[in-house]
Order: sequence, then C-alpha cells, then structure tokens
Amino acid sequence: MADQRHAVDPTIFRSALARFPSGVTIVTTRSAAGTCHGFTASSFAALSLDPPLVLVCLDRRADCFPVFMAAEQFVVNIATPAHAELAVRFATKGADKFAYETFESDEHGHPVLPEAAAVIHCSWEQAVPGGDHVILIGRVHDARTGSGKPVAWYQGGFLHLGDGAA
Ligand SMILES: Cc1cc2nc3c(=O)[nH]c(=O)nc-3n(C[C@H](O)[C@H](O)[C@H](O)COP(=O)(O)O)c2cc1C
Repeated sequence: MADQRHAVDPTIFRSALARFPSGVTIVTTRSAAGTCHGFTASSFAALSLDPPLVLVCLDRRADCFPVFMAAEQFVVNIATPAHAELAVRFATKGADKFAYETFESDEHGHPVLPEAAAVIHCSWEQAVPGGDHVILIGRVHDARTGSGKPVAWYQGGFLHLGDGAA
C-alpha cells in the first residue's frame, strides 16, 4: 500500500504539474506482427549525450504499453502546431490513430511524421519502473530536424511559441 504520511492532494499535484510547460511528442513503434502503435507524450526528455539517451514515461494502463515493452525500437516525433489535432487523436484510447495521416516509414518500418520539428530514432535500451508509469529509455541511433517550430503543452492546452523562439 502507498505511504500516505506525506501524500499530496492529487488535484493540487496535477495543477502544479500543469504549470510546467513541455513539448509534445508522438511516440511510435511497430509490433512484431507489423501493426503500428503510438501515443502522445509530453514526458519526453533528454537523458544523456554520451551515450545518446532519451526517455519517455509511459502509463502502464496504456493499450500500447505491452507493445512498447516488447519493442526493439521506437521513434519520437516532436510535434508542431500543425500536429495538434493528431496529438489529440494519439491521446485518445481506441482511436484509429494511423487512419488519415500519411506517416512515412523509417528503414525499420516504424512510423515517422514527415513534417515533425524533429524525429529521433531510438533502440530500446531499458525500462525503469516509476509508479504507475514506466520510464522507457531509448538509445538514439539516428535523428533529423525539420523546419517547423515545436508546439508546447501548458495547462491542458497547446501553446504556440512566439516569433522570438528559434
Ligand atoms: C499533451 C498530452 C501529453 C501526454 N503525455 C503522456 C505521457 O507522457 N505519457 C503517457 O503515458 N501518456 C501521456 N498522455 C496520454 C496518452 O497519450 C493517452 O493516454 C494514450 O491514449 C495512451 O495510449 P493508448 O491509446 O494506447 O492507451 C498525454 C496526453 C496528452 C494530450
């Protein structure tokens, strides 16, 4: 049972977390059976430069959880404002996530967003338990940048970066 001695009020905790602006990523992979899977994630972060590692936290309750735990590789697509609707779809359980968009495939068949602000190709390195999430650590074996600016996520909504942001 969880230690309740210093338990934060869940509403205040969520509200505090919402004060932290983050980027928006669409993380994708392909199962051994060849089906495409993905979810929207704001928990993406850089972890290490040498070796090149990144992380993303995945909810254990996600439908795609078993697929990502078994995946050998995954792709982090950094979303732009043009991907806001797509990011909502990839955050919707049961949605036909790959129905409309023309994702490209990388050389290993993983779905890649052609107009992403950046695309980071990872090999599955490690999964570290973190409460109701698991921290997926990926070793980056390829990356490319696009010309579009990334979109941010703040207080439950998309935030377009101003002209000053590079
Ligand atoms: C902006 C945004 C960021 C999100 N970030 C995360 C995240 O970092 N980790 C996570 O597990 N779910 C995150 N979610 C929720 C998942 O995208 C959503 O629960 C998704 O449907 C889970 O995949 P499933 O459809 O396979 O269950 C986020 C949702 C939104 C709208």
